[in-house]
Amino acid sequence: MSSKGGRRMRDRVVFLTGAGTSVESGLPTFRGSDGLWEGQSLEDVASPSAWAKNPAGVLAFYDARRRAVLAAQPNAAHDAIAALENTCDVIVITQNIDDLHERAGSTNVLHIHGEVLKARSTVDPNLVYPLSKPTIEIGDLCEKGSQLRPHVVFFEEEVIALKEARKAMRSAHRVVVVGTSLQVYPAASLVYEAPSDADRYFVSPDKQGVPNGYMLLRGKATAEVPRLLQEWQ
Ligand code: OAD
Repeated sequence: MSSKGGRRMRDRVVFLTGAGTSVESGLPTFRGSDGLWEGQSLEDVASPSAWAKNPAGVLAFYDARRRAVLAAQPNAAHDAIAALENTCDVIVITQNIDDLHERAGSTNVLHIHGEVLKARSTVDPNLVYPLSKPTIEIGDLCEKGSQLRPHVVFFEEEVIALKEARKAMRSAHRVVVVGTSLQVYPAASLVYEAPSDADRYFVSPDKQGVPNGYMLLRGKATAEVPRLLQEWQ
């Protein structure tokens, strides 16, 4: 907790999460040895040109991701982040397209790379629909009559809610970065938006890639995140 003008206020804790946060829920990372992209070219599955050339292939790829997400359960890291809302003002900025933060109970989640359980119009990006089935088919249309696509950010496309994410980072008293290689921009640049007097932590099993100003908590998300947040109780 911190105080301002004599009045107690809740600390704002901002999390930036990546694929490593969900790996212990059974969802693979992108760049690990079991990585999703191994053996598959990114351009073949997650780019505007792939969508233009082979929309059925892109839909099938994300249908498989969606089925995996639906079969997965939140883990102890997601649970601990959600429970922190009892004592702190929490914002989760996630690069993950799964809904495991929400299912754990987090109420303030910015999905900067989109959400695989939603579809969106190909003529109006503001038309976003929750999916009631695990697949998007060729011929599934938005209300304006255009083909639906996954509500995910393809390579070369703009990330979602970047302005809000930057603002959240700048307002943080504590920042916890979990399970991301910080290889993908602009998401990676968010770590440097945090105030220099904020407490900043980086949870990773690797000792490389720790951003300047961040303290490495080396280990798995399901161990390190609950341990850190327990210390704050
Ligand atoms: P990466 O696969 O690049 O990185 C995952 C990170 O999680 C690595 O640094 C791992 O060491 C770490 N990790 C592995 N197991 C872990 C565990 N149990 N606990 C904590 N950390 C663990 O995934 P992201 O950084 O999320 O973008 O990838 C960023 C973006 O690249 C994705 O959102 C996606 C992809 O292209 C789009 O689809 C637009």
